[in-house]
Amino acid sequence: MSNFVFAGKDTVELAKKYGTPLYVMSGDMINDKCDEINESFLNKYDNTMAVYASKAFLNLAMVKMVAKKGIGLDVVSGGELYTAHKAGINLENVMFHGNNKTASEIAMGIDLGVGRFVVDNRWEMYLINELAQEKGKKVKILFRITPGVKSDTHDYISTGQKDSKFGIPIVEDVIVDVVDEAMKLSNIKLMGLHFHVGSQLHDNSSHLRALDATFGILDKLYDKFTFVPKELNVGGGFGIYYNKEDDVKPLSYFVDPIMEKISGYFEKNGLDRAKVIIEPGRWIAGEAGITLYKLTGKKEIPGIHRYISVDGGLPDNPRPALYGAEYEAVVANKYGQEAAETITIAGKCCETGDILIKNIQLPITENGDYLAVMSTGAYNYSMASHYNRIPKAAVLMITEGREDIIVERETYEDVISQDRVPSWLE
Ligand SMILES: Cc1ncc(COP(=O)(O)O)c(C=O)c1O
Repeated sequence: MSNFVFAGKDTVELAKKYGTPLYVMSGDMINDKCDEINESFLNKYDNTMAVYASKAFLNLAMVKMVAKKGIGLDVVSGGELYTAHKAGINLENVMFHGNNKTASEIAMGIDLGVGRFVVDNRWEMYLINELAQEKGKKVKILFRITPGVKSDTHDYISTGQKDSKFGIPIVEDVIVDVVDEAMKLSNIKLMGLHFHVGSQLHDNSSHLRALDATFGILDKLYDKFTFVPKELNVGGGFGIYYNKEDDVKPLSYFVDPIMEKISGYFEKNGLDRAKVIIEPGRWIAGEAGITLYKLTGKKEIPGIHRYISVDGGLPDNPRPALYGAEYEAVVANKYGQEAAETITIAGKCCETGDILIKNIQLPITENGDYLAVMSTGAYNYSMASHYNRIPKAAVLMITEGREDIIVERETYEDVISQDRVPSWLE
């Protein structure tokens, strides 16, 4: 029996040193992923771009890490954009997404000079044009389209189907009219199209079917307006390992056929190939993170269920409650010890649904043991909440043996810092 080692560090030592719950990110794994993007995509194919979908895991350090590797950023809100701005990166490499950008967020994006607005709908297109006009600027846009592809993933992370809150449906009379109108507006420049078919995909067929649908529309746009896109953004969604059901593929499994198909389309039509953009989020950060917890209680309902509780849960990882996400875990201080009980790991919140993992096989656990939950690097810290007024956990990053706290643990003072008591209650 030994302690579980992650990123070259004894996780029990980390838990004792920094407290729990603790997000631990491997900077080395993030760098390796960025290197794979460079090798398998950016350096292999010319006229390409990669942007990191920052919603997966974002803070100042992360912005700088991906930027150092020549990777841009996808942001969907003023807060994400502000983080990118404060990290000091070139905002020309930022794509501003989102299905509901407010006027003030759009204005901020124009003022800061984001490279592209990915426009979700006609109303937003007019708003961007109007705000750009007021500021005497011309901004570059892509249209987000919904290619009508249902991908093989959880409904909550499937985004490319026809009935989606995201994007413009590629029903001919909708998309053709919007493009027509866009080309008549003087403060926006339509650069091309974007789609994102869904997340946590292990099969490239959704991207390829989405391309077929996109080409159908591009044919029509060419016939009507001789419109040729300068850019095609095929989104992210490349899957990672959470558990044994995940058949993880290298990035090349996705990007090679995508590139072949896109190049074939432009060649066939005698046109210069558009710049191809990918937007991985989970694929860069997901497996690079784990969360450490302390076991704080155990109970058995005879003949029914055994529970252990941890000192975190829903506030640091809402995914199991949100859409039944499944995780693997080990008892960090009993690593390698044989599994001896089937147990459910309950989170700390007053919410029946706050169950981190159902019926996992673990060694016999006791109060004070440490648990390491795997693949929590994406959509955990970024989705964290203050439910039950629990302060948010710290984020530790390990890079080449260095230990850096990149997000401080919140204090109770932080939790009440925005509260104001009206004078009549004083
Ligand atoms: C527009 C867009 N691009 C990229 C992503 C990243 O997806 P993933 O983290 O699965 O790569 C998302 C996820 O929601 C998205 O909405």
